[in-house]
Amino acid sequence: MIYISPSILAADFSKLGEEVARVENAGADYLHIDIMDGAFVPNISFGPCVVQAIRRQSRLLFDVHLMINDPQRYVDEFILAGADMITIHYESCEDPFALARYIREHDVRASIAIKPATSAEVLLPHLDELDMVLVMTVEPGFGGQAMIPETLDKVRTLRREAIACGLRLNIEVDGGVNEETIWRCTAAGANVIVAGSAIFKGSRPRAVMQKMRAEAAAHTFMG
Ligand code: DX5
Ligand code: ZN
Repeated sequence: MIYISPSILAADFSKLGEEVARVENAGADYLHIDIMDGAFVPNISFGPCVVQAIRRQSRLLFDVHLMINDPQRYVDEFILAGADMITIHYESCEDPFALARYIREHDVRASIAIKPATSAEVLLPHLDELDMVLVMTVEPGFGGQAMIPETLDKVRTLRREAIACGLRLNIEVDGGVNEETIWRCTAAGANVIVAGSAIFKGSRPRAVMQKMRAEAAAHTFMG
């Protein structure tokens, strides 16, 4: 099953509620919410109060991507704000797997992200403890970048391992995904697709997502 998760980083923040409704009505599955602290990544976005505000307006699954140092300081706030799934970065804290356990204990789905330079091997022994893994297909920090195709080798490694272990793991890709590049991601084994610019910057989000789903269906993982 393919899930499309539009990233609100590319939305018009002056009318965020309308922007969320626009992609929800156009058929999005999740809403990808990028939290940046200006330290783990060289950009600042917004915090839990924004998540809480849009929570009141949307029934989408909130896919919260924490690009912040020491995320253990803030996960409670994001849980309270209405996150359904929280992704923390492997590189951002001492024991990401313990934090993932903590998140799951609070009935929120847990996921761990790896930056382009981080090997997939660090996640392999822990796949059964996670609801999802996120393979960054660009350096985290900014929307609108071009995908780094080599990162998809890690998606392939993770999908093979999940299958070998009999796990229905969700594998998310984030960065530079659009109608032209999605096929590479799904062929490599990704099934949760983040897209910011591709969905929010145009006027036809429904058509974009339909095209993405068609491309995904035509390019599935073959081993
Ligand atoms: C980048 C963020 C992404 C970003 C994707 O650090 O994690 O979610 O919004 O934007 P696009 O789809 O424009 O590359
Ligand atoms: Zn993201």
